[in-house]
Amino acid sequence: MFGRVKPLDAILATAEKKSLPRSLGAFQLTMLGIGAVIGTGIFVLTAEAAQKAGPGMMISFVIAGLVCAVAALCYAEMASMVPVSGSAYTYSYAVMGELVAWMVGWALILEYAVAAGAVSVGWSGYVVGLIENAFTIDIPDTLVRGPYDGGMINLPAMLIAGLVTWLLVIGTRESASVNAVLVVIKVAALTLFVILAVPAMNMDNFEPFSPLGFGGIGAAAASIFFAYVGFDAVSTAAEETKNPQRNMPIGLIGSLGICTIFYLLVAAGVIGSVGAQPVMVDGVGLEPGSRELAAQCAAISDQAVVCSKEALAWTLREIGWPQVGNLIGLAAGLALPSVILMMMFGQTRIFFVMSRDGLLPESFSKIHPKWNTPYVITLITGAGVALFAAFFPVGQLANISNSGTLFAFAAVSIAVMVIRKTDPGRHRPFRTPAIYLTAPLAIAGCLYLFYKLDVKSQILFAIWAVIGLVVYFLYSRSRSHVGRGLVEVHEGDPGIPPQPVPPLPGAPTPGGDQA
Ligand code: ALA
Repeated sequence: MFGRVKPLDAILATAEKKSLPRSLGAFQLTMLGIGAVIGTGIFVLTAEAAQKAGPGMMISFVIAGLVCAVAALCYAEMASMVPVSGSAYTYSYAVMGELVAWMVGWALILEYAVAAGAVSVGWSGYVVGLIENAFTIDIPDTLVRGPYDGGMINLPAMLIAGLVTWLLVIGTRESASVNAVLVVIKVAALTLFVILAVPAMNMDNFEPFSPLGFGGIGAAAASIFFAYVGFDAVSTAAEETKNPQRNMPIGLIGSLGICTIFYLLVAAGVIGSVGAQPVMVDGVGLEPGSRELAAQCAAISDQAVVCSKEALAWTLREIGWPQVGNLIGLAAGLALPSVILMMMFGQTRIFFVMSRDGLLPESFSKIHPKWNTPYVITLITGAGVALFAAFFPVGQLANISNSGTLFAFAAVSIAVMVIRKTDPGRHRPFRTPAIYLTAPLAIAGCLYLFYKLDVKSQILFAIWAVIGLVVYFLYSRSRSHVGRGLVEVHEGDPGIPPQPVPPLPGAPTPGGDQA
């Protein structure tokens, strides 16, 4: 079952042929990480975390951050050793064989495409709030919220997903400088929030600290894990990193550390200034994104941060800074599309590599004659993302995305230990410190967070995995290039059009800024 391993040397030979210049240092990597990480998680899901854990969500942020930190250390070793595109899918192919790689790639569809949907819904919440407050108008919920959230269809979320798809089809990439500007906007917005909210803190708001017990704190950690997703974008840049042994861990741990500090300050600001107690009925916390919670929130005219679709802007308006609240909305409106872009870009890239390996139809990786982009796969991804965004609540999408991400993180943590045994002599520019402690901790953390996800997301993940197995055995297995002995598709092979792998998001592009 694990026999179909794609030889590591074949993977590396392909990478060498298309090697990219090593230009990224620790600072650029950290910026790349922060650019991919800060998004809907902190701007929107803070409200969901509060609904699950109350003030105890501070601990949830720490738990989720720690799980990511140990997983990041495992990613860093794999990324420095197998510095090619495809991330967790490629690592698994080299170490644990095709079936595991396929399942990881299949799970990554959840991580990237569903996450792009979640961020689109988060964007919609902020932009709608901004328009309503800045122009004192009321946009009917029917058109700006999904059916589970007290509306019918989320048109703005669909719109932004469509717009980002179009940008990707015409070949837009986010350059390092555009990423840097957006990172500054996001960090400035969060800093401003902290500066205004922390002094308005009332320590009484931290009581009761954990109204739904440790179960609630764990459940909030499983959701807020989403706020850290994206740092793996740093590991995919290993091929372009100067001195990866030093810079890769700084980039990964540095971006995670900076985000964690901001998240804790922001969470403290929300809790301390407006309070973050969950809306409960008969002592039971209502599920975020449920019709029951939407109804309870309507009954109290949304006068609780847990009811808000734009938690940070709402908080500032509540404590007397309505204009700054709008400014935060503007910052989210400007910066979140780049997170959607990175997620969708990651998705197209994974699909691209899977199709190049023969596991998905080769027509998927067809390149547009004019724009030189894998437009077929981009349009398919875009349609899926727009559909998720239109009808599902942000928290549910984030949880489903987390299920896929946790699976991929666990697979990489296993892979890194396996390859230490099977190929101990291979050059490892970065070695995971205390690997037999770090990797098992990462696996245990992923299992714990998966267990704490809501049952709906767990069931959906299981159904998705079964569909994946069916597709693999009915379609992919017999067409796999490794299975057919082709091992690698080289550019210029007869009958196979050249397929340039698009450059990494956030990496400097030769043509300069395009985004
Ligand atoms: N971490 C990213 C976000 O919170 C996915 O939007």
